[in-house]
Amino acid sequence: MPENGAKQPIAVAEQFHIAQGTKGEQYEALLPQLRALVAGEPDMIANMANISAVLKAQFDFFWVGFYLAKGEELVLGPFQGPVACTRILKGKGVCGTAWERAEPLVVPDVDAFPGHIACSAQSKSEIVIPVMQHGEVVAVLDVDSEYLNHFDTTDAHYLTKVVALLAE
Ligand code: SME
Repeated sequence: MPENGAKQPIAVAEQFHIAQGTKGEQYEALLPQLRALVAGEPDMIANMANISAVLKAQFDFFWVGFYLAKGEELVLGPFQGPVACTRILKGKGVCGTAWERAEPLVVPDVDAFPGHIACSAQSKSEIVIPVMQHGEVVAVLDVDSEYLNHFDTTDAHYLTKVVALLAE
């Protein structure tokens, strides 16, 4: 235990290694680091905050963060990027649709997605991954890009593994 009483060493952020290579290789390098980062910390909000920071640092996503399921709404949680909408109803937008369907959603062109909620006009494509706990969607991970068609099945595959770390 470090002298400041924190569970993790102060230098944990400096130990985070920005990976090179293909997108798949970058995710592969990231996963064990993320697992180590959340290990021993049971607070989901704290872990969501650090996961958002690491994903932003690695991929420089335009916006990356979480919305938490509360009643019939998603409420903004930890994120990195510009100010965002705070509440999204179930079934609305990309996030609310992914929540309702309880499955990942890749949107290559947000303008072509009926009901897309534009928190920023700069966002052009998006991926949303439900965070499952005990068979329920408790949150969603939302990632926005300023480029069209930025996300694919590789992102869906690895980001599903990333959010699964929250339930370990
Ligand atoms: N575009 C999302 C809203 C959240 S922001 O992108 C951060 C949606 O349609 O649900």
